[in-house]
Amino acid sequence: MKEKPEQSRRSFIKKLTTTSAAIAAGTSLFASETSVKPFAILKRQLGYSQNDQINLALIGAGGMGTQDTIVALQVPGVKLVAVCDLYDGRLRDAKTRWGADIFTTKVYKEILNRKDIDAVIIATPDHWHQQISVDAMHAGKHVYCEKPMVHAVTEGPAVIKAQKETGKIFQVGSQGVSSLGNEKAHELLKSGAIGELNYAEGFWARREPLEVWQYPIPEDASTQTVDWETYISNTKKRDYDSKRFFRWRNYTDYGTGMAGDLFVHLFSSLHYITGSMGPNKIYASGGLRFWNDGREVPDVLLGTFDYAKAEAHPAFNLSLRCNFVDGTSGTTFLKLVGSEGSMDITWDKVTLKRNKVAGSDDPFYLDKLKKAGNVVQERKKMLPPEEIVFDADKGYKGGPYDHMVNFFTAIRNNGKVTEDAVFGYRAAAPALLCNDSYYKNSPMFWDPEKMQMKKQV
Ligand SMILES: NC(=O)c1ccc[n+]([C@@H]2O[C@H](COP(=O)([O-])OP(=O)(O)OC[C@H]3O[C@@H](n4cnc5c(N)ncnc54)[C@H](O)[C@@H]3O)[C@@H](O)[C@H]2O)c1
Repeated sequence: MKEKPEQSRRSFIKKLTTTSAAIAAGTSLFASETSVKPFAILKRQLGYSQNDQINLALIGAGGMGTQDTIVALQVPGVKLVAVCDLYDGRLRDAKTRWGADIFTTKVYKEILNRKDIDAVIIATPDHWHQQISVDAMHAGKHVYCEKPMVHAVTEGPAVIKAQKETGKIFQVGSQGVSSLGNEKAHELLKSGAIGELNYAEGFWARREPLEVWQYPIPEDASTQTVDWETYISNTKKRDYDSKRFFRWRNYTDYGTGMAGDLFVHLFSSLHYITGSMGPNKIYASGGLRFWNDGREVPDVLLGTFDYAKAEAHPAFNLSLRCNFVDGTSGTTFLKLVGSEGSMDITWDKVTLKRNKVAGSDDPFYLDKLKKAGNVVQERKKMLPPEEIVFDADKGYKGGPYDHMVNFFTAIRNNGKVTEDAVFGYRAAAPALLCNDSYYKNSPMFWDPEKMQMKKQV
């Protein structure tokens, strides 16, 4: 039987106060009728130990690969032994940062052939993720592959197959999935904190050239310093073009546009929080409004996604927006909306708002009640929402660190990771289909359980 709002509110509070999660404050979370802002602290208790040393290699030593490695090396017992990149400058930087004794190469297979390497981080542009991941697992390496897991929707099954065949740990790099914020949101949704989920939305606003992929091109960039032939060896043959190498996100042969770059993070978080396998209908619209710098991808993109009723959740809709010409700039958010409230979710903070509807405001309903002989109480008012902020404990190292810990812990314990190849594919596919919908100007249909394209739902 469905709970009445007040009942479900009470049971939510009960669950909230009895939950094992670390709620360190908030004596009377919903006690007052006035708008209160109680405060609760999210804590991370890490239960891992330092066993054997894990030897790590980085393939793709650009911005994110470097960042991932810096975080990975904060996990006790992890050592970087080798770095691969196609540009000399990156290999030089790697030796400066991590020591001259690091083995460096432009040939990723030389990394995979080394017996002393246990795990690799793959942080190349998107068009190399599938091939290097599959080759790495077959060479006996555990893989941390940056998002999106694949460059095209057809590429996912090969990664899933390689993971199953080799039994290697494979984790995709949407690091929010391992964060305290996502964990708390998952727990709150499950406990009925926002009632029944019906809608979710995500948004990115950017404006600065660097944020919108106009990266600087090194002065020494040329075919002498860049292995261009290898870079394009799995895609269309073209003459050397520095922009296509250093600003790869703008070109469809290498990148996956706003959806593959950004929407995919929200699919990962949303699927983790709700337990969903994904949407079954995907529709995109947008355009190139401002950044006419030769890019092949839109700079404003809207995606709408229908999630059908599933075992883990009711039917709901998702709206994602990305604007690279936003004068206000600097905004990113994920919001989940339910029948009794909403949650704004980041990696280290969840803001829960619950509307206190004390009675119906509907004049037709009130009139009906009157005619039926019921005494109508004084008209109730909408009250301001209750708000609770769950904030990460001081010193929390963040989702990226937790994600690396989960990866290395799974390697050490022969365990499992949440964001494995199946999870990664279910997050990447709707993002990639969003691009397909944009270019084909048509809705795309997807079977999230079987992970297959469909003609129509
Ligand atoms: N998880 C996140 O928050 C996050 C953030 C940024 C980027 N990323 C992902 O990380 C990946 C890299 O992005 P980036 O911003 O670091 O790009 P980048 O251009 O800074 O780095 C990519 C590097 O890969 C090298 N490279 C290209 N092809 C290669 C190959 N075949 N073998 C070896 N090296 C190769 C390039 O020379 C370059 O140094 C992308 O897939 C991106 O989507 C994830």
